[in-house]
Amino acid sequence: MSEWVEHQIDERVLVQDELYTLTQVARTRWGSKTYRMTSGDGVSRWLTPRKTDQLAPYVDRASIDQFVRAFYGRVQHDEVLAPIFATRITDWEPHLVRMVHFWSAILLAAPGFMGNPMQKHRELEGVHPEDFERWLRLFRATLADIFEPEVAETILQRARRIADRLSGAMFQSERACG
Ligand code: HEM
Repeated sequence: MSEWVEHQIDERVLVQDELYTLTQVARTRWGSKTYRMTSGDGVSRWLTPRKTDQLAPYVDRASIDQFVRAFYGRVQHDEVLAPIFATRITDWEPHLVRMVHFWSAILLAAPGFMGNPMQKHRELEGVHPEDFERWLRLFRATLADIFEPEVAETILQRARRIADRLSGAMFQSERACG
């Protein structure tokens, strides 16, 4: 059975590439919850919460959590990526929490991620440039299951840019050596 996503005051939500902070909870005249949200330049609008089993029309903490879990669920069943992750990750829960923080920092400018992705990926062994394409294909397929198409595209673009930087850092020296 589907439920309504609950939000909290001060939570951030990305709507059509505009970042809002939830500032007030109210009830509509039909008794359902509605949230007032305010952008950085002071523009306010009302947010209708979505149902948990619907494609998300905006990015919030709940959809990032759902996405991260679904994505790494697929990674763990991927014949190429799973063995690479298995060299570094045995207990998945801390990694998932970390990745929720990471994507919340990227998409919602939310504090909480402390890490060094460049360094961590440079240390990985057995990764090939084409593995990044595979990673992105899985990422894209998972986005389509959870977000409305426009939102999925925005997130994919961010992921691509980061993937390019990471793979650049990982394979640059090899290319330079011919
Ligand atoms: C073939 C592609 C990739 C592979 C095999 C891979 C693998 C891994 C592994 C094994 C870790 C855990 C490292 C550790 O804790 O020691 C990790 C961490 C991480 N990955 Fe990836 N990754 C890939 C692509 C990406 C991409 C494209 C992004 C972002 C768009 C990304 C974001 C991260 C982040 C943020 C962390 C946490 C880093 C930290 O804790 O400092 N990864 N990755």
